[in-house]
Order: sequence, then structure tokens, then C-alpha cells
Amino acid sequence: MQPQLEVNEDLARRVVAAIGRAFGLDLAPAEALIAVSTRDGVDYQCNLAMSLGKRLATPPREVARRILEHLDLGNVLEPPEIAGPGFLNFVLRRSWLEDRVHALAGDDRLGVAPEEQPRRIALDYSSPNVAKEMHVGHLRSTVLGDAITRLLRFAGHEVLPHNHLGDWGTPFGMLIEHLLDKPPAARSGIGDLNAFYQTARRKFNSDEKFAARSRERVVKLQSGDLETLAVWQELVDESTRHFNEVYRSLGITLTDADIYGESFYNPYLANVVHELEADGLTEISDGAVCVFPEGFHNREGDRLPLIVRKRDGGYGYAATDLATAKYWTTERGATDLLYVVGTPQAQHFAMLFAVCRAAGWLDGVHAKHIGFGSVLGTDGKVMRTRAGETIKLADLLDEAVSQAAEVVAERSELGADEQRAVAHAVGIGAVKYADLSGDRERDYVFDWGRMLAKDGNTSVYLQYAHARIESILTKAGNRSDDTAVLLAEPADRALALTLLRFGEAIRAAVSAYAPHKLCTYLYDAAVAFSRFYEQCPVLAAENAELRASRLQLAALTSRTLVLGLGLLGIEAPQRL
Ligand code: ARG
Repeated sequence: MQPQLEVNEDLARRVVAAIGRAFGLDLAPAEALIAVSTRDGVDYQCNLAMSLGKRLATPPREVARRILEHLDLGNVLEPPEIAGPGFLNFVLRRSWLEDRVHALAGDDRLGVAPEEQPRRIALDYSSPNVAKEMHVGHLRSTVLGDAITRLLRFAGHEVLPHNHLGDWGTPFGMLIEHLLDKPPAARSGIGDLNAFYQTARRKFNSDEKFAARSRERVVKLQSGDLETLAVWQELVDESTRHFNEVYRSLGITLTDADIYGESFYNPYLANVVHELEADGLTEISDGAVCVFPEGFHNREGDRLPLIVRKRDGGYGYAATDLATAKYWTTERGATDLLYVVGTPQAQHFAMLFAVCRAAGWLDGVHAKHIGFGSVLGTDGKVMRTRAGETIKLADLLDEAVSQAAEVVAERSELGADEQRAVAHAVGIGAVKYADLSGDRERDYVFDWGRMLAKDGNTSVYLQYAHARIESILTKAGNRSDDTAVLLAEPADRALALTLLRFGEAIRAAVSAYAPHKLCTYLYDAAVAFSRFYEQCPVLAAENAELRASRLQLAALTSRTLVLGLGLLGIEAPQRL
């Protein structure tokens, strides 16, 4: 079966073709500005005649009239109307809509055609630091990165996820010494990672001897001393166990095979420096090897450096990121480098990309920092515990599940096991959805009440909508997917149109790395379903054909919610 164009794309192509015929202009479909209409009885609209009118020095209504004159309606459109100063109002033909919705029923991908030119995308996400607890910032990277991975894969791209663990650098001197100070019996299991890190830090700051030992230990670590590496590995393993617990509880797709920590790039660092030097890109500044990419200055107007090798000969965060970019493009053939990292690191990535570009490592490669805002407490400040510490992710997730359990407990007909599974799906879903449903660039307020609300744009609302539809379908009993779709009432039609927009939503979410666009769509779909259900009797429809058609719409809505939530990494329990 030939994949069909999404409705907006189909209309856009018709409109630009008409403009080509009418005015000899060659526009790209995206320039047609086709938008879903909010007017009653109108499906899509196009406002292009306004701006074209200016460009062609012709009254917009006249432009609109000539576009219509040349528009191929196919079997898709009713003859369109011109409204007001020159808006084009499009109404889709009922029979065409009915056929399209019918075709959805037989399509696992619900009308989304896979990308014709798939890309090979290296995606850096989660990336917590060894010997520290993950915090809400890592939660955001993890949840966003995982949803983006699922979306890109569904769109047909190849995704190479890599977890850039902070597992190297000077703090490891003190961490290793601190671990070695413990009696051997107490060494297995670091326990509380934050406390471990903080105690090591306190000793480092207050005990000169400990600090000296730590510095020597860094040198040993970097020179590959085996005993030192073994202790370092203990720290890494312990932390990885802890990260994996969080991933498992969150349902994150990352595995140990995706770990490419900072230490992985060690063997590549010296070469990176040599290459940048040979290209004449480096300067010595304060004894350090630096690159000063063009266009980066501080407030005083001084040029900003990317430090490639420190004065003491060591390598830092930036050098590792240079090696990382080079590795994924040259050795792994990535066409895209994506980084899901908080917005405070925007400048670091802008400078990194500038240097990589100058070195020729990004020829034909699309590099992008997918930034995100901070997670704030209900007081509007960056989230902390009452004691002023950063909140531990594991505690937060436990809290989510236990709060969700209270919401679910009202439904006593579920057995204990099912209730536990549902509470998990609801609680974890709520935390993830809260992270995903707002524009990622903005900060968001972590608010239990709001994220677990049964109404509004929440995962709980979507999960309820899905479970309600499933219960209707169960009551309906036997049903065939191959029934004619009849769009008899405006509410039937509105729901059908919404279901046909799934592909548009996926495309928008994928192209902007913006899962919130999918969230908004799913919410619209659930709302459209509930209007439909209020206005159109389903189980008690007037006749058997209409009943079958409405059950078909219900089943499609359910599948849309399950697939959509799945792409966000959120479960949709059958009963709730
Ligand atoms: N470990 C870093 C942090 O916690 C994030 C690393 C992001 N990835 C990268 N390639 N720099 O802030």
C-alpha cells in the first residue's frame, strides 16, 4: 500500500501547485501555511493570500479566487470558500474522510509513513555522574531523551543512544582515597552516594594529607595504575547499579551497552589535540592549549576559550566532548549529533560545535543541543529537599508511586497485584508526562497535585480515557476492524479528523525534538473522544452499521492513545 500524505501536507501541495499555475511562483509546501481551523464546519484553512497579495500587488481576495480557480480538489475537498479578506476555508469530503479512517484501522502505524531518508543519529542523554545521585535535572534529560529516542525510531531513523557518564576527572582521586580509607568489609556498597561524595569532599577540603593523597591518586588513575583502576571500577559499577534501578523503575530503554562514559574517550584525547594543533586552530593561553572559536566573548569583550588541554597536561570536560563528537561522526558514521542536556550548558555546546566545524568534523553533520529548563519546586525555586539538598530521584519516584496508589485505591475492584501495577504506571507516567508535556525550553514546576490531576492535560487523564474506551469495547463484545466508517454527526466527524492528524503530530514532535507537541495532540484526541461520547450513542447507536462505525472510532482512539503514550514511554493500563 502506497503511504498516504498527511492531510495538511496533501492540502499544502495542492495549494502551492495551484499558486504555481496561477502566478508562476514556485513555493515549498511548508510555505502554504495550512492550519487546522477553529471555525465550525471548516477543517483546515490557509491565510497565504494575504501575504501573497502584498507580494503580487493584487487584492488578497483576488489572489484567493485565482488560487481556487487552479486548485485541484481531487476526491479530497469540497469546493472551498473564500472568507473575509481572503482566507481559504477547506472542508474535506465526507466519503474521502471515511475511506481514510477506514484505512487507519488496518495500519499498525496509524497512518504515519516511515522516513524515506533515515538518518543515523547519535543521541547523548541521561548522562549522570558517577558517585553522585541522579537529580531532577538528570531525570529531565533521561525522560526527554528516551521519548525523543522512541519518536525518532518510530519515524524510521536509526538512533545510537549514548550515556555520557561523568566517570572521569580530578574528583575521582578523592573518591578513590575515601573508598580505600574504609575497612575492606565496609567497602562493598557505597550506600548513599551523595553522602559518600560529600564526605570525600569535606575530607579533601579540611585534611591536607588526604588532599595530597587524592592528587597523587589522580595521577595514578590517569597513568593506568591497575590497583587504582580496580577501585575506580568499583565506584563506577556501584553507581551504574543505582542508575539502572532508576532506569528500570522509569522504563527507560538505556542499557549498559549504551554507556560511553567520559573515560571511554581517553585513548582519543591526545589525537584530538594534535589534530587541532596541526590545523592551526589552537593557541597557548596561561599555559593551557585552547581554541578560541569565533564569535564567543564574555561581557568584557574578551574572547572565550574552549580548553583542550589544561596547564597541568590533563584533559577536561570540553576536550572529552571534542573527542566524543569526533568519535561518533568519524568512527560511527553518525549524520546527526544530538545532546539532551540542560540549557545552562548552551554556550558550551555552541562553542563545541563551532570548534568541531572548524576542524571539519561536522561536514554534512547536523549537530544540535536539545536544551531544557530547570525543574522548580512549588515555591518557584530550583527543587531541593527541606534540608537544602538536591532531591534524590529514587525517593521522588517512590513518592510518585505511593501518591498514585492513593488515587488508584479508590478503584477497589482491581486485585492487589493489578492495583500495584496500575499505581506504578500512573505514578511514573505522571512524573514523565509532567516533564514532557510543557515546552522543554521552559522551566516547569514540579507539583504533585497538578501532575496527578484526573482532569486537564495530564497522563492520568489520558490513561483514564484509554481505560474507559477499553471498557466500552469490552462491553461491546465481538467486533470487526473491517467495518465501513460512517461520519454521520459532527462529533463523529470531529473525532475522525483528529485521529487523522496523528501523523501531523508525530512529524511536528520529531522535527522539533518536541515531545510536548505529541502530548498536546493526545490530549486533543482524548477531549475529542469525550465530546464524541457525550454526543453520539455508541453501544446504543440507532442501527448496527452506525454502532460498528462508532466502535471502530473508539478502537482507533484507544490505539492512538496507546501508541502515542508508548512513544512517550508511558504505559496505558487496560483497567483503571
Ligand atoms: N554529566 C554531565 C552533567 O551532569 C552531563 C553530560 C552531558 N553530555 C555531554 N556530552 N557533555 O552535567
